[in-house]
Amino acid sequence: MVKLTEYSQRGGCAAKLGPGDLAGVLNQLPVMHNPNVLVGITTSDDAGVYKLNATTALVQTVDFFTPIVDDPYLFGQIAAANSLSDIYAMGATPLTALNLVAFPNCKLPGEVLLAILQGGQDKVAEAGAVIIGGHSIVDNEPKYGLSVTGLAHPEKIWTNAGAQPGDCLVLTKALGTGILTSAARADLFPHGVAEATASMAALNAVAAKVAAGFNINACTDITGFGLLGHVYEMAAGSKVSITIDSTALPLLPEAAEAANMGLVPGGAYTNRNYLKTVTFAEPVKENIRDICFDPQTSGGLLFAVPGDQAQALIAALQAAGVAAASLIGQVTADGGGDIYVR
Ligand code: CO
Ligand code: CO
Ligand code: CO
Repeated sequence: MVKLTEYSQRGGCAAKLGPGDLAGVLNQLPVMHNPNVLVGITTSDDAGVYKLNATTALVQTVDFFTPIVDDPYLFGQIAAANSLSDIYAMGATPLTALNLVAFPNCKLPGEVLLAILQGGQDKVAEAGAVIIGGHSIVDNEPKYGLSVTGLAHPEKIWTNAGAQPGDCLVLTKALGTGILTSAARADLFPHGVAEATASMAALNAVAAKVAAGFNINACTDITGFGLLGHVYEMAAGSKVSITIDSTALPLLPEAAEAANMGLVPGGAYTNRNYLKTVTFAEPVKENIRDICFDPQTSGGLLFAVPGDQAQALIAALQAAGVAAASLIGQVTADGGGDIYVR
């Protein structure tokens, strides 16, 4: 069988731009202003939101990356689930999608591309959306993802900037996909790798649907900047301080052991170096700190919900099959994006 990840020149998560690089480039561009833009690029949110009229807003996002698994069908599913996730993270419903494809057609057979696209298409169908086009180029390494457009009511959007002191933080998927992707490359921890793969291929649709019945103050999904990178974006955007309970974090099986062995992707160190507002309590072990910064692919949703609704939200998520749903922290006070991990 073709080992698809061998065609990834720099490898999965480590190939992503570090948050520092990205911010440095974006800051050089003047911000465009338009009265219909409800969420633009300034708050590092999951998707952009453009108000069409009083009841409808367009929600748009794009994401693509190099293979993180060898099975092309699975890679297509994971890439699509990851792209669709940003729509769910805004409280929106996915409507249409466009394929983004780069493929080394002189090195890999056409069946591989077909399987990637079939995986993506099946995941889009599962989301109730439809692929209406796309663009492909020849490239040395395969890349796949989607541009997705969704719809939401303009007043029901979940930004990452609305968290309030007293809110609890609820996370819906277990952490460690980057570390276990590194383990897969080393042919280690097959059980954890299988669980990570299933988790990455799973849509955040059910979690978003359940949460729509609660007063969600803020939401984002956990992806390339790791748990703490996205917690930071929420904390800074909401102008609050957040405490994370490291003992409550849902972890994928064998992720802690793999981190102990040093199977930590480069992106985790990039994230760690970038985030200066994080303080760890001394007892928090090094492997757990690594997991807190581990770049996630198609990670879970992170909700900020009023404290008195948190237990009911978790119960409803678990009843709907979102087994990993956990209360992982609190918004403690107004602030400037400080994060304390105890
Ligand atoms: Co996102
Ligand atoms: Co994204
Ligand atoms: Co959001």
